[in-house]
Amino acid sequence: MQSVYEKIGGAATIQKIVEAFYPRVQAHPELKHLFPEDLTETMEKQFLFLSQFFGGPPIYTEKRGHPRLRARHLPFPIYPKTAEAWLACMASALQEVGMDEKVREEMWDRLVMTAYHMINQEHE
Ligand code: HEM
Repeated sequence: MQSVYEKIGGAATIQKIVEAFYPRVQAHPELKHLFPEDLTETMEKQFLFLSQFFGGPPIYTEKRGHPRLRARHLPFPIYPKTAEAWLACMASALQEVGMDEKVREEMWDRLVMTAYHMINQEHE
């Protein structure tokens, strides 16, 4: 069975998603203060992660070790509305890149689960 990574066209498409996503994050009032001004390294880490997450080569783990994503996000306060903001940026990025609806839904379900898993604050 083909992985999502293969179905969307591999590294080139992951790169497009990353490039469409971060300008939205940088412009979002709920998100921009959490991220460094220079997003070069953030984008590189996300490229490695999403490649691996969607069934491509395990390049994130090779370079950065076990993802431990929730632990890596603990320094940042993530409320339900922060996760919603992250997902809104991602939804819009996926739409810009454009892909088959079935595979988009498959990606979306996994992204939603992961984003909600990152929530580490209940109230403001
Ligand atoms: C890193 C925010 C959800 C994957 C980061 C960083 C922030 C952040 C501020 C640090 C950036 C840096 O120092 O370079 C958020 C917020 C989320 C969220 C507010 C809302 C729920 C997600 C999700 C994923 C993800 C759903 C994966 C599908 C990553 C990865 C890194 C990262 C791979 C880099 C980790 C590392 O290697 O250091 N995130 N994130 N994030 N995030 Fe998120």
